[in-house]
Amino acid sequence: MCGIVGYVGGKNAQDFLISGLKRLEYRGYDSAGIVTLNAEGKATLVRAKGKISNLEEKLAQNKTSDKIGIGHTRWATHGEPSETNAHPHKAGPLYLVHNGIIENYKELKAELKDFEFKSETDSEVLAALIESFYRDGNYPLVNAVVQALKLVKGTYGIAVISELQPEEIVVARSGSPLVIGVGHDETLIASDASALVGHTKRAIYLNDGEVAVVTAKSIEVKTLNAEPVSAKVEEIETNLAAIQKGGYEHFLLKEIMEQPNTLTETLRGRVNAEQGTVHLGGPGLTEAELRKIQHLVIVGCGTAYHAGLLASYYIEQFVPEITIETVIASEYRYRNAYIPDNSVALIVSQSGETADTLACLREIKKQGVRTVGIVNAIGSTISREVDGGTYVHVGPEISVASTKAFTSQVIAMVIFGLTIAQAKGVRSTMLRPYISEIAKLPEEIAKVLSEAEEQVKAITKKYHELEHAIYLGRDTAYPTAMEGALKLKEISYIDANAYAFGELKHGPLALVDDKYFEIALLPVGELYDKAVSNLQEVLARGGKVIAVTNNDKFDLPVENVVKITTELEIFAPILMNIVLQLFAYYITVAKGLNVDQPRNLAKSVTVE
Ligand code: G6P
Repeated sequence: MCGIVGYVGGKNAQDFLISGLKRLEYRGYDSAGIVTLNAEGKATLVRAKGKISNLEEKLAQNKTSDKIGIGHTRWATHGEPSETNAHPHKAGPLYLVHNGIIENYKELKAELKDFEFKSETDSEVLAALIESFYRDGNYPLVNAVVQALKLVKGTYGIAVISELQPEEIVVARSGSPLVIGVGHDETLIASDASALVGHTKRAIYLNDGEVAVVTAKSIEVKTLNAEPVSAKVEEIETNLAAIQKGGYEHFLLKEIMEQPNTLTETLRGRVNAEQGTVHLGGPGLTEAELRKIQHLVIVGCGTAYHAGLLASYYIEQFVPEITIETVIASEYRYRNAYIPDNSVALIVSQSGETADTLACLREIKKQGVRTVGIVNAIGSTISREVDGGTYVHVGPEISVASTKAFTSQVIAMVIFGLTIAQAKGVRSTMLRPYISEIAKLPEEIAKVLSEAEEQVKAITKKYHELEHAIYLGRDTAYPTAMEGALKLKEISYIDANAYAFGELKHGPLALVDDKYFEIALLPVGELYDKAVSNLQEVLARGGKVIAVTNNDKFDLPVENVVKITTELEIFAPILMNIVLQLFAYYITVAKGLNVDQPRNLAKSVTVE
C-alpha cells in the first residue's frame, strides 16, 4: 500500500523519482508527489491527485536539477484522495513520505497543539511529531526521527529530508518494506526492488526496527536503540525485461501469457517425472518431520487464499490421514484457533508483505507451529520470517490482479503435499499421475493459451454489458470458480460470485434471470455427470450459460462453450482457470477499463 522512493547522488533526482514511482504505481495510484532540494536546501514540492501521469504533467512546469529528493504514490487510508492529502507532507523544514498506518495518530495529534495541520492524514502527524523534536534546527535529523518513532504505534516505511541538511535522507521501517539501492556515488530508496532495476544491482533490505541515514556515498544503519547494524548488501535478481510489458498492451496479458515459462521456473529442480519423485529443499523439514505431519493450516488473502483452497483439495486426495484448514488471514488472526500438534502452517503470499498474512504468521509462530512460506517476492518480510519456504519464482507480478502467481502457488503447494506423501510412504503408483501431470502442465498451459484466446475474445463481446455473473464448479473446479469470479470482479467491476454446483438449489438458483450470466466449469472426471445435472437446473430456468469443459463431446444447449483439449485430467481446473483469466481480461478490455490498475485496489496490501 503506497510506494515510496528517494534519491541522493549526482544525477537529476526528479528523473529517478518519477521513474521509480511509475514502477511502484501498482502499490497505489490515487495521488502522488515529489519533493526535491537544491544544494542550499530550497525545496520544490509537486503533488497531484490521480495517477503518476498527472504528477508528471505538473512536473513539466516545475523542472529542477536538484540532486536529492523523495516521492510517494498513495493508496488512501486516512483522508480522501486529494492533493492536500498527497505526500510528501511538510512540517517546518522537513518533508516526509510514509507507507503504513500510524494507529495512535489521534492521540499524537492532540499533543501537537501548535502545529497547523493541513491534511487529514495520519502521515502528516508523524511529520509534525518529528519536526517537534527537530525544531531548533541543530538537532541531527536522525535523532529527531528516532525520538518520534519511539512514540508511534502502527506500521511505517518512511523517508524524511530536511531543508537544513540537503545532503541526506533518513529512512526507517516497521512493518512496511524499504529497500536501499547501493549505487556508485548515489543511493536510492524504494518500497520494493523493482524500482531500482536498471539503476543498481545491489540492495540493502531494511529490517523492522531499523533506521538508516543515507547520503550519496554512505549508508549508516542502526536500530531504534542506536545499536549499529552491519547491513548485508544483496544482489537484485530481477532484470529490466521482467518489469516491462514486453510488447503486450497490458501487464495482465503479459503475465497470463508468461505462465508456461513461470510455471517451468516453479518446477525447476523440484519435479522428476521419470523417477516419479519430487524434491523441495526450502521448507527445511526432515523426512521424519514430514512423516509426522497430520494437519496443515494454509493462510492467505485474496488470490493466495484461493490458491491454498485449491491446493488443499488436491493434497487431501493423496496424503492419508491429514486434515487441512485453509483460512483467510484477516479472519484467522483474531480467531484464537487451536492448532494441534504435528501441524505445519503454509503462509501463501505473492508479495510476501500482506499485513494480515504477516500478522497470522507471527501469531502462528507464537504457538510454536512450524511455518513454511509459499512466496514470490524474494527477500520480502514473510519470506524472511517463516521457518522455511519455497519461492514460486514467477518473477515480478505487476498487474494488480494476480494470475501467474496463483498457478504456481497451487502447484508449489501440491508439490509440498507430494513430499509429505513420499515421506509417509504413499505408494508411488498413487503419486505418479500427479507428478506426471505437473511435469506436463507448462506445455498444456501453452496449448490452452493458444487454443482459448480467440474463443474467449469472441464471447466476451456478448457479455461485457451484463452486471452480474455466477461461477459454478464442483470439487477442484469450485475453488477455481472462486478465483475466476474474483478475477472478473476485481478488474471488470462485474458483480461475480462463485458457488459450489451442489449449493445452487439452496439459494443461488433464485438469482438466475436475464441480468445474470453463468460460467459453468465442467472438467471430465468422477463428478462430471453430477455437475451436468446441476447445470441442467440452470438451463431449465433460462440461464445464459458459458460452459468451460475438456469434454470434446459436450453438446448441452448452452449459449457458449469454451472447449479445451488436454490430456490432463487431474489438473484440468488449472487450465480452466487460465481460460477464466483470459475471460476477465478481455471483458475488461471490452469495457474500456484500466486493466492493470483497477479502481480502489492495490497490489500489495500492507495495512490491516
Ligand atoms: C491484494 C491483491 C490480490 C492478492 C492479495 C494477496 O488484494 O490485489 O491480487 O491476491 O492482495 O496478496 P499477496 O501478495 O499476499 O499474495
